[in-house]
Amino acid sequence: MQLVDNYQRRFQYLRLSLTELCNFQCQYCLPNGYRPNKDHQFLSLNEINNVVSTFTELGVHKIRLTGGEPTLRRDFIDILSIISAYPSIKQLAITTNGSRLLKNVDSWQQAGLNAINISIDSFSPYVFKQITGQDRLSELIQGVDKSLEVGISKVKINTVLMRNMNDHLADYLTWIKHRPVELRFIELMETTESRELFNRYHLAGQRMETQLIEQGWQLQSKEALSGPAKVYAHSDYQGKIGLIMPYSQDFCKSCNRLRVSSLGKLHYCLFGDAAVDLRDLLSSPEQKAQLKARVLASLLIKPEKHLLHEHNLGITPNLSYIGG
Ligand code: GTP
Ligand code: 5AD
Ligand code: SF4
Repeated sequence: MQLVDNYQRRFQYLRLSLTELCNFQCQYCLPNGYRPNKDHQFLSLNEINNVVSTFTELGVHKIRLTGGEPTLRRDFIDILSIISAYPSIKQLAITTNGSRLLKNVDSWQQAGLNAINISIDSFSPYVFKQITGQDRLSELIQGVDKSLEVGISKVKINTVLMRNMNDHLADYLTWIKHRPVELRFIELMETTESRELFNRYHLAGQRMETQLIEQGWQLQSKEALSGPAKVYAHSDYQGKIGLIMPYSQDFCKSCNRLRVSSLGKLHYCLFGDAAVDLRDLLSSPEQKAQLKARVLASLLIKPEKHLLHEHNLGITPNLSYIGG
């Protein structure tokens, strides 16, 4: 049994959100901070184990833990240990705001974590604070360097592009010159909570792409299990630059991931709120056959592409709810 949809896309990559909670207030995501909802009970360790056990049997080899901020879970190390114990998991990754990185990355690495994406929206402390509400840029950079030191094999930086705010390419190129990291510019996405911000700051990734090509950067071919980024390299730089451009026409063709939210819903796409609830089948391993059947059946209605180009269709809620 394999996870394949009606458009011959194969899914070996699961994004599992651990919580909606976040301790940052990024302007494009949670401008007013996280507002707790007491009805939201996030997946337990046992439920997480049942998700992972089922999806690995369906051919998943890569799991990315997201949020909110996944590392705020008190049982985060236990979650890593449980997942890394599955022999078929080749990559265990997190997407983090980096707030706990410096203190904890060595213990996460020992628990089996081997890939980290860290959000850093600017290398100017002033601009970083304007975007994220945090004064912690230098600590985050130390955390990135520590991750490389302890042997995390894939370290990526996520920078959400904002026009006239953080779009000066040279600042990023200097930073990756001697660091073997992939820095990705992510096009700002319109969410239900950020329409005005989107209109003011959205900048097409092609603007950066054109400059890279002019400066001799070359497009790389895609690695197995890699995500939506187009990646460029240059022989003078240890680091690479990626571009995530959800508004470009053929973006969805290479979709290779499914996402399970921290409330146990299977979302087909980052955009739009279509989802299938799996929660009633997550409490016991004995429900596995039923769970597999539900997942396989629901894949058949995964849409071919998002509808961002159509007026007001397919807008995503803020990304802390479904894990980016
Ligand atoms: P890796 O290839 O594993 O590094 O995955 P990734 O780049 O998808 O991971 P990350 O969590 O760092 O996500 C970065 C951004 O990519 C997200 O915030 C989204 O903006 C975008 N993204 C991730 N998955 C999707 C998707 O399924 N559809 C779209 N349109 N964008 C996505
Ligand atoms: N547009 C683009 N990227 C976003 N992220 C969160 N909200 C948005 C948005 N509206 C990014 C974060 C993080 C990743 C998980 O999602 O910067 O890197
Ligand atoms: Fe938190 Fe990530 Fe949203 Fe920023 S983008 S507020 S770090 S969940």
